[in-house]
Amino acid sequence: MRSWKAYKEHAWLRDEVTPITGKPVDTFGGWGATLVDSLDTLYIMGLREEFSLAVEAVSNNISFETTEAKTINVFETTIRFLGGLLGAYDLSGDTRLLSKAQDVGDMLYKAFDTPNHLPVTRWDIHAAARGEPQTAHGNTLLAELGSLTMEFSRLSILTGNPKYYDAVQHISELLAAAQAKTKVPGLWPIVVDASHEEFDLGSDYGLSGMADSAYEYLPKMAALFGQSTGIYADMYLRSMEASNKHLFFRPMTPKADDILFPGSLHASLSDNHVSTNLDPSAGHLTCFVGGMLALGGRVMSNKTHVEWADKFTKGCIWAYSSFERGVMPETMSLTPCSSRYDCQWSNSSWHGAILSTQSISTGAEGAVKVVEEQRLPPSFTKIPDARYILRPEAVESVFVMYRVTGDPSWQDEAWRMWTAIDKMTHTELANTAVWNVNPKPGEDAGKADSMESFWLGETLKYLYLIFSEPELVSLDDWVFNTEAHPFRRLKK
Ligand SMILES: *[C@@H]1O[C@H](CO)[C@@H](O)[C@H](O)[C@H]1NC(C)=O
Ligand SMILES: *[C@@H]1O[C@H](CO)[C@@H](O)[C@H](O)[C@H]1NC(C)=O
Ligand SMILES: *[C@@H]1O[C@H](CO)[C@@H](O)[C@H](O)[C@H]1NC(C)=O
Repeated sequence: MRSWKAYKEHAWLRDEVTPITGKPVDTFGGWGATLVDSLDTLYIMGLREEFSLAVEAVSNNISFETTEAKTINVFETTIRFLGGLLGAYDLSGDTRLLSKAQDVGDMLYKAFDTPNHLPVTRWDIHAAARGEPQTAHGNTLLAELGSLTMEFSRLSILTGNPKYYDAVQHISELLAAAQAKTKVPGLWPIVVDASHEEFDLGSDYGLSGMADSAYEYLPKMAALFGQSTGIYADMYLRSMEASNKHLFFRPMTPKADDILFPGSLHASLSDNHVSTNLDPSAGHLTCFVGGMLALGGRVMSNKTHVEWADKFTKGCIWAYSSFERGVMPETMSLTPCSSRYDCQWSNSSWHGAILSTQSISTGAEGAVKVVEEQRLPPSFTKIPDARYILRPEAVESVFVMYRVTGDPSWQDEAWRMWTAIDKMTHTELANTAVWNVNPKPGEDAGKADSMESFWLGETLKYLYLIFSEPELVSLDDWVFNTEAHPFRRLKK
């Protein structure tokens, strides 16, 4: 309520409120990102008066016909605006929301008006309105191409118009055809060429930002359509098989925790031979993996995936608890174990990993100094980005694990995370992103005066649901898009 009121009072109808200075900012086209992202959160929390006020405003005062923004991020607009409107409609049945969703869908559909019908992902909407010819980009991020399926499919189901589904199904078919032919069969590179439909251009692979939700949407599409087989189930199983082989790693920790993280892979080709190099890095964005595997394991009835999910989710909980203030950073590098099954802590391996990660040539004393200066917790070899920007992925996975297992110890973990997050990010008006989750004792985390719409749309929603009855937005009936908007699942 504090964060919502701050938005309402200081930034109504704009994209975000700055949570310290109380100013409006437009970051996503100026169509009220926080307003639209918060609709279903208000509904789920039973704040019906606020919800109806918000629906009025969306219906009367937000128009997707105009924007001051030069380019539109098709992916962000799809997951936040189209997803937010569809989720709120699915929950409430208010047809004003479906009609707005169709406005957004029709606008975005024009981004697919290219020679090969693949979308322009960073889209000059004004040039498109002037009727100028457009083509999909040579360099397109996998996530921005592969994470449109849920929203466009749900829009087709709800409107009865198949054109939205057809547009994204085309992308999925191309991805399916390319999946076994990349340098790392089963995975797609983070950068693909949408203009020439070339899906093996880049050499970097992983499940982190820029790729993440393309993988996440595979089991979620199967869930949306009530399927445990088919193109999405196949792509999901193949991609997780390859991830297990190439990306998953166990970090070495003092207590030999049985946890996992997904690393990144650089693959290079010489003389027809692919050599790969695992980078044992992870970050807050990769914390969705536990939730994805728990959901995928449930939908495909695969116990192995649920066991992996447990280890990934515990990995992020371990990362949170590694820091004095109890919150993990945006990105980090870790010391990998040589075996996933047996991994004893060794100070000298950790120190060696620090020296090689940071390319430092001094001996062991050098590493001890780095640990002290950079305040590196055990196993951490580098913290390239120490921010916490109110992201949801870690609590999102805890939420799915709790719903899938019913084990209340996940609630305890969520409570610890919430308490630490609120303490670190609390402002007089709302909550803010911070610059450094790991400040020296007595120092402040450095408040960044920014509150992205996913704080209200995702983080607070997942936390609320962890402490609610499991019937509230049951995972048997609903599947969340990557912005935490619940869509109703079709039943077989
Ligand atoms: C929203 O739209 C209503 C109905 O058109 C209008 O009366 C009201 O002034 C608008 N509010 C804002 C803040 O633009
Ligand atoms: C479950 O997943 C594992 C790992 O991806 C795979 O090896 C196994 O074949 C799957 N089992 C079934 C029944 O699909
Ligand atoms: C391991 O390294 C840390 C930090 O470099 C140091 O504080 C600690 O005393 C070392 N422990 C042992 C057992 O050597």
